[in-house]
Formats: sequence, C-alpha cells, structure tokens
Amino acid sequence: MKTAIVGTGYVGLVTGTCFAEMGLNVVCVDIDKNKIDKLKDGIIPIYEPGLEELVKKNYSDGRLSFTTDLASCINDVDIIFSAVGTPPDEDGSADLKYVLDVARTIGKNMTRYVLVVTKSTVPVGTAALVRSTIQKELDKRGLEIEFDVASNPEFLKEGNAVNDFMHPDRVVVGVESEKAKKLLSKLYKPFMINNFRIIFMDVPSAEMTKYAANAMLATRISFMNNIASLCEAVGADINMVRAGIGSDTRIGKSFLYAGCGYGGSCFPKDVKALIKTASEHHVDLEILKAVEKVNAEQKKILFRKLSDYYHGDLAGKTVGVWGLSFKPETDDMREAPSLVLIHSLLQAGCKVKAYDPIAMNEAHRILGNHEAIVFTDDMYDAVLDSDALLLVTEWKQFRLPSWSVMKKLMRTPYILDGRNIYDADELTQMGFVYECIGRAYNR
Ligand SMILES: NC(=O)c1ccc[n+]([C@@H]2O[C@H](COP(=O)([O-])OP(=O)(O)OC[C@H]3O[C@@H](n4cnc5c(N)ncnc54)[C@H](O)[C@@H]3O)[C@@H](O)[C@H]2O)c1
Repeated sequence: MKTAIVGTGYVGLVTGTCFAEMGLNVVCVDIDKNKIDKLKDGIIPIYEPGLEELVKKNYSDGRLSFTTDLASCINDVDIIFSAVGTPPDEDGSADLKYVLDVARTIGKNMTRYVLVVTKSTVPVGTAALVRSTIQKELDKRGLEIEFDVASNPEFLKEGNAVNDFMHPDRVVVGVESEKAKKLLSKLYKPFMINNFRIIFMDVPSAEMTKYAANAMLATRISFMNNIASLCEAVGADINMVRAGIGSDTRIGKSFLYAGCGYGGSCFPKDVKALIKTASEHHVDLEILKAVEKVNAEQKKILFRKLSDYYHGDLAGKTVGVWGLSFKPETDDMREAPSLVLIHSLLQAGCKVKAYDPIAMNEAHRILGNHEAIVFTDDMYDAVLDSDALLLVTEWKQFRLPSWSVMKKLMRTPYILDGRNIYDADELTQMGFVYECIGRAYNR
C-alpha cells in the first residue's frame, strides 16, 4: 500500500515516518521547498525526540521520500492524508484554506480511485466540504471517478509524538464506506500488535471527537488553575489538592497541574474554533468561554506576582526566564506563555535574560532583536545579576539546579516557579524567597 502525507509539519512528518517505519511506502509532501530540501539533506526542521533517527533510516531505506509536487504523486498512492495546518481565522474559526487547497489539487489531478483522509483538526462538516471540492474539480474535467473521504484526527503530543503514534491509546476513524474502512483497517493493522483499539464511527463524530478531547483537556487545566487561585486565597496547597483528587479513579491523575497557562498550536485554537462552531449552531459553550478566559488571565500570573513582589516598580530590574517553548521537549513556541510574560516584562522596562534548551532559535525568530532581551548560552548565565528567576517551562534540566551557585549569581534570590517543580522548604531554608502557583505565602 502506498501513501502520501500532505503537510510535513509536526503531525505530517511524524505520521509519514511512523507509517514508513511499519513498512509502508510513504511520500511526504509540503509546499515549503526549504523544508523539503532540508529533509532530503537529512536535516529535520522540527525538534521531536526520536524522530531524526527514524526519518534518516526510512529515507535511506527508500520507504520514505519527500517532494513539493503533490500532483505528481496523487495517482501513485492508495491513500492521501491531509495533515496541513488549520490556524485560527480572524473570527476564531479554523481556517480551512490549506485543507481545501489540497482537495482542489487532488480533484484537478486524480485519474483513479483514492481515499482522502483528513488528519488535521477540522470542524464538523469539513469532510463534506473536501468531498464537494474534489467533486467540483472532477465535474469541471467531465470525469466520473470514485473516491472516498474519511476523518482520522491525530492525538499525538508534541515532545512524545513518535511514541504516541507508535503506541496510541486509540485511533479514531470516521468513514462513509466499507471500502474506506477496509483500507484504513489494513493500514493500521501493523500497529494492532501493540493492542490498541481502532474506533470506527461516522465522519462528523470523528471530527467532533478531536475537538471535544482537546476542549476537555484544556478545561481540566483551567479548572485547576482556577482552584489554585482559590488555594492561594484560603491558605490551601494546590499540589496537595491535586494528589488528593487525582487518586480518585473517576478523576485520574493527568492534566491536573496548575501552572502559568496552556499554550501550543492546539488547545488555544481548538477551544476557540469549537466555541465558534457552537455559536454558528446557536449553542452557547459557556464552559469553554470560561476556560479561555481563565487561561488568558493565567498567562499573566507570573508577571503579576513579580510586580506585586517589587510593589509595581519593575523598571530596570533584570529578570531571568527559564523555558520558552510552550512545553518541554519541543521547540514549538506557538501561543507559549513565555511570550505573554516577556512582552509584559519588556513593557515594564525590565531587562530579560532568557534561556531554553531547544527553542532558542525559534524564540529569537519570534521575538527578534530587542536591546532589552539577551538569549543566554547557559541556564546559569540567565540568572547572573538577576532580580528574579521565572521558571516558565519545566524542562528536566531545570529540576535540580545548584542552588548554592544560583544564590551567588543572583542579585536578589527570588524564585518564581510557574510550574510548581521546586521544594518550597528547601529553597526557603537556603535563603531564597520562593513563590509558586496555588499556595499561600508569608513574605
Ligand atoms: N502539533 C500537534 O501537536 C498536533 C496534534 C494533533 C493534531 N494537530 C493538527 O494537525 C494539523 C497540522 O498541525 P502541525 O502542528 O503539524 O502543523 P505545522 O504548521 O507544523 O505543519 C503544517 C504543514 O503543512 C504545510 N502545508 C500547508 N499548505 C500545504 C499544501 N497545500 N500542500 C502541502 N503542504 C502544505 C505547511 O508548509 C507546514 O509544513 C493541524 O490541524 C493541527 O491542529 C496538531
């Protein structure tokens, strides 16, 4: 079976590479020539643990290839996955421009049966739109060619994407025909050895499942952040509360961590898009509106705490920032809480010394050259002569710093822990002022 994956980003490259690893013949397609040229030269355009070795191995074994020319491979493959971006439009809805571009190219060039599968996160009704877009192009050409559309939303997590794809909890597939079901069952068969479940359903339900999953996870995070604020006010400790409720099997332990807000390419845009879809159907998703609002406030929390500590006088202060990517093990900076924080710090007249183990280039690209930001080569350089250290992203290497070295390097030993990873008692005993999220302090 031959497969094309259109869109060679976080989802497309991982999908294509993992299918190739299972023995399939895969061509990865992208309109970004620079990206495709890099991949052909063995340079992986994103940071994703374990991906580089797999790409190089499957490319050199000839199962994985790269091209910018979708038209040239449409009639050589049985299945085309569309994994292009679906960024938010100005009104919050998912912009389907790229998805429909791919559909048009398929309709303009197909000469035989093909199964078109949407892997991107798309609103309910998109598969029908993809179908009518392809059909229109076939009608223009006066051709009657059978094809199927299906929905196979992706649930991988950046930072653990290869493992998630190889060992998913489940694979959700929305189909409209037995033929499509058979083809996708065959495609995912090699993964069955790992005993995961493939859940077949109708297409609209599959499209909705992805949004509902992300909305639920975002809700858990905002819920815990909301409860964390109350913990601070009443003198409770959110970490204890998390341990207490997470051990209830009805609740479970995942996604209960209070912090400085969720970011990334998925939760913010998917929550927005779901609210928009609902409003188009006259349904008011009040819970998700609150989830968004709480998250927007939470992204400001570190700045607010810092400002409170210095009684609003931040001009001229030097602030070290550890962690810039939206979460550990990725270089993705989309909607990262660090961006909101750094913009506020700069506005308040602070000097920012920023460090991230992987996302430095991406951060530099997004934040540009600013005289008040220094991107340091080392995590300790970021705290030299600083008036505070703000931990934004909980990379493993930040977990056990040498506190004695830190104490000597910092001008003011003030640690503001946005991910609750440090031991308050240990730091206080060492003479640091320590604050985190969801716990009351006696300054
Ligand atoms: N990133 C994640 O963790 C994740 C997880 C699950 C689902 N998703 C969803 O998957 C989709 C892709 O996300 P991503 O993070 O991989 O995006 P991305 O921005 O990393 O990659 C998208 C790629 O598509 C390419 N592209 C755009 N138009 C094209 C066209 N006409 N032909 C060929 N290539 C084209 C772009 O150049 C880009 O390389 C989105 O809908 C996203 O919501 C993402």
